Amino acid sequence: MNILNELTQSVENAFAAADLAGEAIILKASSNPDFGDYQINGIMGAAKKLKKNPRELAAQVANILADCPLLGKAEVAGPGFINLTLSTDFIEKNIQAALLDNRLNVELPENNQTVVIDYSSPNLAKEMHVGHLRSTIIGDALSRVLQFLGANVVAQNHVGDWGTQFGMLVAYLVEQQKIGNENIALADLEQFYRNAKVRFDEDAQFADTARQYVVKLQSGDDKVLKLWKYFVKISLQHAQNIYTRLNTLLTPENVRGESFYNKDLQPTVDELLQKGIARIDNGTKLVDLPEFPERDGKTPVFIVQKQDGGFLYASTDMACVRFRVNELHANRIAYVVDARQSLHFAALFSVCRKAGWLPENVLAEHIAFGTMLGKDGKPFKTRSGDTVKLADLLDEAVSRAADLVRQKNADLSNEEVTKIANAVGIGAVKYADLSKIRTSDYVFDWENMLSFDGNTAPYLQYAYTRVASLLRKAEGSVSGSLNIREPAEHRLGLCLLQFEEVLSSVAKSSCPHYLAAYLYQVATLFSHFYEHCPILSAEDSVKSSRLQLAQLTGKTLKQGLNLLGIEVLEVM
Ligand code: ARG
Repeated sequence: MNILNELTQSVENAFAAADLAGEAIILKASSNPDFGDYQINGIMGAAKKLKKNPRELAAQVANILADCPLLGKAEVAGPGFINLTLSTDFIEKNIQAALLDNRLNVELPENNQTVVIDYSSPNLAKEMHVGHLRSTIIGDALSRVLQFLGANVVAQNHVGDWGTQFGMLVAYLVEQQKIGNENIALADLEQFYRNAKVRFDEDAQFADTARQYVVKLQSGDDKVLKLWKYFVKISLQHAQNIYTRLNTLLTPENVRGESFYNKDLQPTVDELLQKGIARIDNGTKLVDLPEFPERDGKTPVFIVQKQDGGFLYASTDMACVRFRVNELHANRIAYVVDARQSLHFAALFSVCRKAGWLPENVLAEHIAFGTMLGKDGKPFKTRSGDTVKLADLLDEAVSRAADLVRQKNADLSNEEVTKIANAVGIGAVKYADLSKIRTSDYVFDWENMLSFDGNTAPYLQYAYTRVASLLRKAEGSVSGSLNIREPAEHRLGLCLLQFEEVLSSVAKSSCPHYLAAYLYQVATLFSHFYEHCPILSAEDSVKSSRLQLAQLTGKTLKQGLNLLGIEVLEVM
């Protein structure tokens, strides 16, 4: 149940009854509990427009709302605001309903949507590094939330598995007579790739050979294709390892790399030319983008095929849009990619709209994110200035978490420590990212993210185990009637019922930090409630009522963290 939607309905009805049909109601959750649970801010605007007294108008609407079964109070405040407080009866009933439902009373508002989410999408033949972290975990959280709200989510891992880098690698391996050795590890490949790049830049003949291999690859030469498949295979095995460790939903079935679109590239470009959208300039095929601001005094262009006939990242992405619309039947396509590619996506969407490949009823979005910075404010690197490998980063997270877990509880077995350290270490890295506004850069800071205080994964995981332990102690007494008596109960109860409202806002904005902030609020309100409202020592009826609030807190924290891809533990 989405309270905001339900209330909106009631307020709209009240507006209609007060001859305000069609006026903006502007309904929001209150930021301060002294002003009730929700606030109507639209009366002043409507009064001005209709030349009426705002306070009188507010009183009229508040009067009508007094009969609304959702509400306990509707009070006029200030120059014409209306503060709404939910009725305790409504909160009590809905908490009990949520406890009886394994979806916690969350409906399926996205169930008519097919959403393609393009995420992770690393370039292959290299180990995954920190640059791939944000896309992978933000994309995964969005997938989970949309899926939970009923959307048909199609995850697409658009890996870079095609093009010049593979030609270079093949040329280098042939030159070094390394062909036939089927035991090349990914770390070796990476070194070969670096060497190949040096050869490519210093030796024109080597560069030519590399380009010929690209042509051979693209035209399906058996030998080259076999090598390429091998490179792709070991790169993807490595990526899948990382995905599993990161507790993401990605599987090999989600991989649909650039190579998949190879056969569609020429027809895509040809169609653009036929439609008069692309033109040929000195052999280069391009689309003019007069709708974008000039760069260096010139109209920007979108190059779709090079002079030598080669295709680019952009060509593949156009073919890919067509596939996602026509074959995957997307209503919405979300690209979870670094903010530095924003021009590429703006141009891509614009060209695809012009070509009719992206119909107006299909939403295309670049879900951009900022850069991970080190404490020095520069892009996050190792001490020696190299890019940080993701596998090393995850090792460090788990080992730092293990130290903390041992410090907190020296009696745990090694096996227990490993289990907890995995959940806490990986959870901390993910949560530190997901709790930040995604479009900003953020500083990657081990101490902060692993702290058991503040808005961190360990704090929330710990809050969950505290609830779990409370419920274990109370064994058996969670039933009977639920009565909201104290303000701390009202606030926690209200917050728990706002789960769907928050998930919907995450789905719309593609901003997981709303969910993180919400879970932190749940944990904080629970701790306030726990301090002010004795539970286990209370008399039976009070105890069982409060335990129900605790139980829904636990379930909400668990489900919410799960939607961020973060594990909880019963004991820590
Ligand atoms: N492989 C690209 C990169 O590493 C990201 C691909 C994103 N997806 C897309 N359809 N362009 O920059």
